[in-house]
Formats: sequence, C-alpha cells, structure tokens
Amino acid sequence: MNNSRLDAGSINEIKPGKTKRVEAGNGKRILVCNVGGEFFAVDDRCTHEDSSLYLGCLKGDRIHCSLHGGEFSVKTGEALAEPAEVALQTYQVSIEDGRIFITL
Ligand code: FES
Repeated sequence: MNNSRLDAGSINEIKPGKTKRVEAGNGKRILVCNVGGEFFAVDDRCTHEDSSLYLGCLKGDRIHCSLHGGEFSVKTGEALAEPAEVALQTYQVSIEDGRIFITL
C-alpha cells in the first residue's frame, strides 16, 4: 500500500477542545481534533448520513454529530451513541517541529 502524509498545519492553530477540517484530496476531508493537547484524526463524514462532523461539537474525546446526535470516539473511531453504528476511520497522527502530519 502507498501511504502518504498530509501536513495539517501548526499545532498552535487548534486549541484544546477544538477541531480543524483538512482537505485530503479527491473530495476527502479529515477532522483533526485536539483532546487536551493530544491530536487525533478521523474522517470528517459521519458514518450515519454523511454530515460533516466539523459542524458538530467535541467534548473530551467524543465528537457529537450535529445532524442527528450520533457520537464517536476520536481516539478509536468507535460509534458511541445512536443513530451512529459504524465506526469512523481513524488516521495516525505525528507531530514534527510543531506541525501535525496525518498518515493517509
Ligand atoms: S448524520 Fe451524523 S448522526 Fe446522522
């Protein structure tokens, strides 16, 4: 498999408890989340009906979908609240020189 890395910007752009939506090409968007100073990356599209999770709300390590209230862990991708049932894709994050890199 051919993995590529996406530069998601400076760690200073995303404060704790906040998220950033990053274009990953081919219409794909990834949501980068700051959970207490640790960064996690998941697909931006809710697995329920494709709503953008960027429009939702991050509480702790849970992202709450604004459309129907589904919730996911941004650490594991696990669906934690209905109507979401299918896990989100997660991505490996590394921090280098104050920048966030996502392995696709
Ligand atoms: S689109 Fe996210 S819970 Fe329905």
